[in-house]
Amino acid sequence: MHIAQHISLLPYNTFGIDVEASLFAGVSNLSDLQHIPASQPVYILGGGSNVLLSGPVNGLVLQNRLKGISIQQEDDKNVWLEAASGEVWHQFVLYAIDHGWGGLENLALIPGTVGAAPIQNIGAYGAEVKDTITQVTFWHLEEQRFITYSNGECRFGYRDSIFKNELKGKAFITSVVYKLSKHPVLNTSYGAIEQELSVMQVTEPTVKDIAAAVIRIRTSKLPDPKVTGNAGSFFKNPTIARSQYESLLHQFPAMPHFPVSNELVKVPAAWLIEQCGWKGYRKGDVGVHDRQALVLVNLGHASGNEIWQLSGDIIASVVARFGIELEREVQVW
Ligand code: FAD
Ligand code: EPU
Repeated sequence: MHIAQHISLLPYNTFGIDVEASLFAGVSNLSDLQHIPASQPVYILGGGSNVLLSGPVNGLVLQNRLKGISIQQEDDKNVWLEAASGEVWHQFVLYAIDHGWGGLENLALIPGTVGAAPIQNIGAYGAEVKDTITQVTFWHLEEQRFITYSNGECRFGYRDSIFKNELKGKAFITSVVYKLSKHPVLNTSYGAIEQELSVMQVTEPTVKDIAAAVIRIRTSKLPDPKVTGNAGSFFKNPTIARSQYESLLHQFPAMPHFPVSNELVKVPAAWLIEQCGWKGYRKGDVGVHDRQALVLVNLGHASGNEIWQLSGDIIASVVARFGIELEREVQVW
């Protein structure tokens, strides 16, 4: 493993922030992991689509380049696909779709790598990746050994897992096993998918059609990071107590919501942000996307710190108006 010095991270993060890493290396083989020097902090990087680089990175940035997809096991109903963590997520989804295997189609076009998918349990359009993952294997940086976790051990939640908590910064995920269906049951629970299929005039959809519909919806709402720097949703959708929701409803009768349980309600952060007047906001090179208020954008040469400041101003204004504190989804380095 070759360790380079003073490398610009501009090509390696979708926000398009130009800061240097003091040390940088690509991890192409599992054996590289045994040669990570213990003398400085380590930062693991996949596609850089969920990180905000708030300043120069003093430490060793390890860019994941582990590749390979293989069938671990199969029977009449299912196939268990093992993918190396550096595979590009969307390419992996397309590989499954091309074989007619179901389970990942609602998660098409999410940027990033296979290995980052379990970190925040990526989700979109009625699906979460936790519903297909059976195993996650990682290199424990402190214990210097490979460990395999079952789905339950990963403690998945909404945009959450053990890898964002107890194992944060300690685990380099090397591969993930996904259980896919050879006889897919399609998930069109998310209203926009049904609508898009009807626009596409598809009456008997396949996994390919679901992915095509999701891709069409996503490209209509979310900015393409190749054109406008962003990291998808900057904040999580907050979950609040039903009692708090009901008292807010008196003041804001149009407030959308999704029940989580008898006691808890999820409120779209995009709606809260839009109500505070931020949608389409721009100051210098930082802004809020004009088609999706949950997405902060770099409109030129914004610094990570400017984006951080804007996110703080948004949090403060949502607290002042609604008494709800938004939590950042993006990982801040
Ligand atoms: P990175 O940004 O490189 O890393 C993210 C975090 O994971 C970092 O803390 C990093 O240290 C850690 N990490 C990465 N790889 C490993 C590894 N192998 N081992 C251990 N730690 C690791 N997310 C959704 O859930 N749903 C969406 O619909 C969605 N849409 C998006 C749309 C756009 C336009 C963009 C830009 C982002 C979107 N995201 C979405 C967020 C992002 O794509 C996902 O979080 C993705 O999984 C990040 O992958 P990555 O490889 O780029 O991770
Ligand atoms: N809304 C607004 N204003 C906006 C956008 C949305 O008021 O500008 C309201 C509308 O009421 C809308 C609701 O918010 O019905 C939900 O909007 P949308 O369907 O666009 O989804 P989201 O809640 O904003 C979440 C995920 C996305 C995921 C989509 C689709 C989080 C934090 N975000 O966004 O994930 O793609 O659903 O399932 O849960 C990501 O994590 O990076 C990400 C993009």
